[in-house]
Amino acid sequence: MNKPAVFLSALAGAVVVLMTSCGKDTKDPGLEFMPDMYRSPSYEVYSSNPNFPDSLTMQAPVKGTIPRNYTYFNYPSTIEGYEAASRDVKNPLPLTEANVAEGQRLYGIYCVHCHGDNGQGDGNLVAIGKFPPPPSYSAGNSSRGGAMKDLSDGKIYHTIVYGINLMGPHATLINPEERWKIVMYVHQLQGNAATPAAGDSAVAAKDSSTTTAMAK
Ligand code: HEC
Repeated sequence: MNKPAVFLSALAGAVVVLMTSCGKDTKDPGLEFMPDMYRSPSYEVYSSNPNFPDSLTMQAPVKGTIPRNYTYFNYPSTIEGYEAASRDVKNPLPLTEANVAEGQRLYGIYCVHCHGDNGQGDGNLVAIGKFPPPPSYSAGNSSRGGAMKDLSDGKIYHTIVYGINLMGPHATLINPEERWKIVMYVHQLQGNAATPAAGDSAVAAKDSSTTTAMAK
């Protein structure tokens, strides 16, 4: 055989080997030389797994597991949970101008369209008739009893987390530290808050590392 013929038949042979090594099963590696350590013997996240009774590879965390830095708000979405939060829960952030200013900014993003600039229940959605007015923070009454101006830290925080009637829950939108800043600003709108200290919030959040995580 001359040289081109040798080359051609080698090429044809290579093509045949290549073609036959591709099977229909895309998970099947086919014929492999030295496959050791190419493929990990571990199970893929969504593959079934004979080692667990429920045959899932991705196991749920052990019941009761809490992620690091997760702030657990252990008050249910009930009137009892609301009253208990009111009794036990206090704003962990100090009352500073910076915290209140940030609370105002966040209020402008998440609350103002219903509650209005001054918390009088006259936001845009109310003005265009999409929403019945929420009670005024300073002059209205809570549907759960008592005057809105007396709503405590815990009650406002509980409301942000779970919502109430027509107001939806905001837990997935607003992290705990942000919620506390909003609570501070709502107190200003209630009209009976102490004057915030001048200063910056950095000093403040002494345990902000435990309040920043997304949490209920
Ligand atoms: C979609 C409109 C809407 C948005 C957005 C909204 N609220 Fe409300 N909110 C309401 C309505 C309506 C009520 C009255 C509900 C009721 O008592 O039936 C209410 C009630 C409240 C109350 C009184 C709870 C109580 O115990 O009586 C607080 C506090 C409050 N909202 C805070 C907030 C804060 C803070 C935000 C932003 C994070 C917010 N709301 C966003 C509509 C809204």
